Formats: sequence, C-alpha cells, structure tokens
Amino acid sequence: MAILIDSLSKFYGSKEVLSGLNMQIDSGQIYGILGPNGSGKSTLLRIMAGISQYDKGNAIIENIEAKNNPIEIRRIVGYVPETPYLYESLTPMEYFGFIGSIRDLNRETTERRTRDLIKAFGMEEYSDQFIGSLSFGTKQKVSIIAALLHNPKVLILDESMNGLDPHSAKIFRDLLRSLANDGATVVFSTHILEIAANVCDRIAIMKDGKVMAEGKTSSLVAEKNLEDLFIQLTSSEDIKMVVNALRGSLRNEST
Ligand SMILES: Nc1ncnc2c1ncn2[C@@H]1O[C@H](COP(=O)(O)OP(=O)(O)OP(=O)(O)O)[C@@H](O)[C@H]1O
Ligand SMILES: [Mg+2]
Repeated sequence: MAILIDSLSKFYGSKEVLSGLNMQIDSGQIYGILGPNGSGKSTLLRIMAGISQYDKGNAIIENIEAKNNPIEIRRIVGYVPETPYLYESLTPMEYFGFIGSIRDLNRETTERRTRDLIKAFGMEEYSDQFIGSLSFGTKQKVSIIAALLHNPKVLILDESMNGLDPHSAKIFRDLLRSLANDGATVVFSTHILEIAANVCDRIAIMKDGKVMAEGKTSSLVAEKNLEDLFIQLTSSEDIKMVVNALRGSLRNEST
C-alpha cells in the first residue's frame, strides 16, 4: 500500500474541512480525486505531501506517518501545488539546479534529468529565460519538472494539467503512465472529468471533506457517464432547476 488515509480529519478554526476520510492507494496506481470547489482536495493533497498537518486519524505515505515525519515525506514525494511558487527571477535551468542541490542530487543526474524533461515538454527555447516572463502553462511545466527531478516514489499533482496544451498534456499523461508502470504512485486532482476517466485507474469523488464514491474508473464509468455521476453525488440542488433559473434571469436582464 503506497498511501493509507485512515479516518483523517482536519479543521480550519472550527470548520471541519476533512471529515473522517478513508482512502487506500496501491503502489503503481494513478489515482484521481474529483470534487467541487472547496470539497477538500487541495487540503488532502497537501497533507499527503507532508506540507499540512491534520487533527485526527492518520495519513501514512509509503509506511511513514505524515504527522511526525514531514521531512521524510517530502523526500519521497514530488508535489506540484495548485499555484506553483517559483522564483521568478531565476531561469528554469537555474531553478532546476537549485532544486537538484536541495534534493541532494549530483550535478550529472540533475543535468541529465533536466535535459530529458525539458526536451519531453518541448521547452528548450524557454530554459534560459526568466521564469517571471513565462506563460502560465510553461510555468506549470517548470513546476512539474521540478517535482520529477528526484524521481519520487509518490507524485502528487494538484490540478496540474489545467494550463497544458493538448500536446504537452498527452506527453504528461504518457509520462505519468510510464512512471506508474515503473512502480511510482500518482495522485492528482482535476476538474476535467475526461482526463480523470482517461488517465486514472481509480477515482474518488469528494464533497464537504468526505468521499462520496470511490472505485475503479472502469466500473464507475460503466454505471453512468462520469459527469452525471459527479453531479448526482455532489450537488445539493437539482442542476436542471438551477440552469433554468439562470436562463430565466439572463433572459430578463436582456429585455
Ligand atoms: N488556509 C486555509 N485557512 C482556512 N480555510 C481554508 C484554508 N485552506 C482551505 N480552507 C478551506 O478548506 C476547505 C477546502 O478547501 P480546498 O482548497 O482543500 O478545496 P478544493 O477541493 O481544493 O477546492 P478547489 O476545487 O477550489 O481547488 C474550503 O472550505 C476552504 O475555504
Ligand atoms: Mg484545490
């Protein structure tokens, strides 16, 4: 078992944002976490990455308890946050060199992996420009490459495919699959249901800090299309009613 989430709860002030969550993720799996805005995806992923603490239950990553061992967790995990924090006044090459040194990689390894990943993502022409001057998607690639440099056992991605063009997204998907085939575990959140259906071995759908449904992607999508299932599980109101009301109010505005 690569990741075990056991009755995990987290509070921000008096608000319980994760609520007795259970999840098991096997090694070599690509695991997708879906859920509406505010359902707790990023909070859960930050805990898995050893960046956030929790209040009850446990999060065990590769047999290491996240609560007391954030440094060990960060060593085995590669994490791409929802909003990457990058040093805008460095170039990607300088930044990867810096990440390689804090990850204790030798220079040749850093250079080889950097070169291969820059080539794979087709960002050679940007490697010596200031990160601050790069487009959103190119910054996203910088953040992804930085998370992959130390060849992590567990890769955690928070909506990291949003900014990628179709070509880069395809390369990234293939890369995730080959990492998983080599035994790495990939956990990612996304709002793009098509990506989840095409990429993930298993999917969890969250709402209000709880898991509403979990299972093999093939069985979840066999029952229903994923969008219908998502909406059925995560909406408190009838979507058609909401859409009709919206249409009505827009019509009134235009007259
Ligand atoms: N630093 C924080 N302080 C207080 N509340 C927070 C903090 N971070 C998240 N929350 C709250 O925790 C809940 C879950 O937020 P989270 O960011 O995990 O949701 P999410 O599922 O990732 O949403 P999105 O789809 O918008 O990215 C929300 O109610 C949010 O307001
Ligand atoms: Mg989020």
